[in-house]
Amino acid sequence: MDVARPPVIETRALEKVYSAGTEAEVVALRGVSLAIAHGEFVAIMGPSGSGKSTLMNLIGCLDTPTGGQYLCDGIDVATLDREALAQLRRDKIGFVFQGFNLLPRMSALENVAMPLGYARVPNEARADRAREALAAVGLENRGSHRPSELSGGQQQRVAIARALINRPPVLLADEPTGALDTKTGEEILALFKRLRDDGHTVVLITHDPEVAAHADRTFVMRDGELHEEGPYDTRVRAHTGVVP
Ligand SMILES: Nc1ncnc2c1ncn2[C@@H]1O[C@H](COP(=O)(O)OP(=O)(O)O)[C@@H](O)[C@H]1O
Ligand SMILES: [Mg+2]
Repeated sequence: MDVARPPVIETRALEKVYSAGTEAEVVALRGVSLAIAHGEFVAIMGPSGSGKSTLMNLIGCLDTPTGGQYLCDGIDVATLDREALAQLRRDKIGFVFQGFNLLPRMSALENVAMPLGYARVPNEARADRAREALAAVGLENRGSHRPSELSGGQQQRVAIARALINRPPVLLADEPTGALDTKTGEEILALFKRLRDDGHTVVLITHDPEVAAHADRTFVMRDGELHEEGPYDTRVRAHTGVVP
C-alpha cells in the first residue's frame, strides 16, 4: 500500500437520488465519504438494495452522482466531458461481474482483447497483450477456447484478464464469486490478492462475510450509508487466527 500518493479513489459526501422529485424517488446513497489508497484490497458488503451497485457505478464512472464529489486518481470527474470521462474509465478502471459477461462466439483471446481499441492498438500487439493477460491469470493454454468450453472459474479468470488489458490501477468486482462454488471462489480471491500484491487496487462487492474476510478492509452499506467495519475484522482474526 502506497500512502505517499493521493487516494486512487476518493468520494466526498457522495449522494445519489433516483427519480428525484417524483413518487418513485429513491435515495440510494447518503453522504458516502470513502478513501482507498493504491494497492488496497477493500470489500463492500450490505444487504440487497442498500446501494452497493449504485456506489460501484459511480466509482466506475458509469453514472454521475446527484451530490458530492468523486476524485478518481486525483481527478475530479465532474470536470470531465463525455470523451474525457470515457478515457478515464478505460485507463483507470477494470470491471468484473458475477455473470462473467463474456461474448459466447468469441475465443478467450478475442474476449480479452475486446477493450483494446482497434485504432489505438494494431492487430499483432492486440494478440500479444491478450496472451500476456491470459498468462497472468494462469490461462496461457486456453486462448482458443470459447467460453462454453471453460469452467466457471476459468471464465471468470478470462473476464479478469479482460478487465486488466488496458492496465488500469483499479479493479471493481461486483459479486465476482457469486456464481462459483466455494473452492473456485477461493481461487478467484487468491488471484485478487496476487493482483493487490502487484500494486492493483481491488474493490470487491459481496454479501458473503467469508469472501469479505479476504480483504484488507471491509465497509458495510446500510440504507445508502457506508460504514467501515473495524470490529468484524478483529473478530474474524480472533476466531480463526488467520489474518485475512
Ligand atoms: N436505475 C435505477 N432507477 C431507480 N432506482 C434504482 C436504480 N438503480 C437502483 N435503484 C434503487 O436504489 C437502491 C439501491 O440499489 P442498488 O445500488 O442496486 O443496491 P444493491 O446493489 O446494494 O442491491 C434500491 O432501492 C434500488 O431499487
Ligand atoms: Mg447490486
